[in-house]
Amino acid sequence: MNRMKILSGGFQGISRCAAHLRQGGILAIPTETVYGLAGVATDPAAVSAIFAAKERPSFDPLIVHVPRGWGSLAKLDELGLTESRILSDQGRNVAEKLMRKFWPGPLTLVLPRGSAIPDLVTSGLGTVGIRMPRHALAQDLLQALQLPLAAPSANRFGSISPTTSEAVTRELNGRVPYVLEGGPCEVGLESTIVHVGPDAALTLLRPGGVPAEDIEAVTGSGLLPPPRGERPSGELAPGMLASHYAPRKKLTLFDRSSPPRPDEHSGNLWISPPPEGVGAGNLGGAPGMHRVLSASGDLQEAARGLFSALRSLDEDPNCTQLRAERPAQGGGLAAAILDRLTRAAAPRS
Ligand code: TXA
Ligand code: MG
Repeated sequence: MNRMKILSGGFQGISRCAAHLRQGGILAIPTETVYGLAGVATDPAAVSAIFAAKERPSFDPLIVHVPRGWGSLAKLDELGLTESRILSDQGRNVAEKLMRKFWPGPLTLVLPRGSAIPDLVTSGLGTVGIRMPRHALAQDLLQALQLPLAAPSANRFGSISPTTSEAVTRELNGRVPYVLEGGPCEVGLESTIVHVGPDAALTLLRPGGVPAEDIEAVTGSGLLPPPRGERPSGELAPGMLASHYAPRKKLTLFDRSSPPRPDEHSGNLWISPPPEGVGAGNLGGAPGMHRVLSASGDLQEAARGLFSALRSLDEDPNCTQLRAERPAQGGGLAAAILDRLTRAAAPRS
């Protein structure tokens, strides 16, 4: 396939993307979290092309993205995306409460799956992950289509999620014809995934752009922790592999209280500026090998820049290995950043 083409939004670009998708094509789209690789969710051939382009194993299910206006169980049921009668009244109420509060936005709800969703989307599970993105171009496209879009992050399986169109082209050039240009992603890491159980129990499957405590504040009760274990095939959390979001180079994590030793071949990633006397100059290496994600230690800013900083250190020929600061656990996006860094640092199988 030829070089990936970057399309801009606006009426023409959106119409072209919509036509391509309607014909069963796939393309990369911006969302507020990370870029996604989209195809019409109800079209098994398009979904299978997504798996092929990403080299993604079929046990790892896809998230389905919906337009504004589809944020109720009645609508999702009517379209055959969900089958909410399987939930208790309480389960339905809590799901709708979360939709009203956090949609459009970086929250994916795992709900009983409806009959219009092909097996491949959910890896054969009885549930489907649904999210209403808030990126304006993602919404323009969904509005034009009025069809659900299955979209995993637009990277090859296991590697770092792209937060710019340029990163998408590095991942998928030659495999996917188009990327819709939407600028750098505002959140920078993926959506929070919450499983809604039939009895209304809520399980946090993946920490992400909506902090768990914000969800708990709305529901008034705690989220259950993600199921343990590294088996990728669990019914509740398939695809949650220990090693994921991984740079090619070896990454180790350090705490602020014990910064790494000087090493002129290491790329260093700091959440906030290094303590007095550490940093560039003392740790060795060129200034470009030291990245600070937020001068004020703001975790939203840090999350926004995390994947692109990791990616650029990974591509910097001066760095042979990478080191990253673990965020202090202070709520907000700390849990999601730590989750991504831990997976990026995990031994590869
Ligand atoms: O922010 C995001 O969620 C981005 C953007 C593009 O929307 N998408 C994304 O998709 O991160 P992906 O495919 O990289 O991660 C989706 C994960 C799967 O690996 C799986 O763990 C979980 O979502 N998932 C999807 N459907 C599920 C289901 N029915 N049950 C449990 N987990 C599910
Ligand atoms: Mg992904």
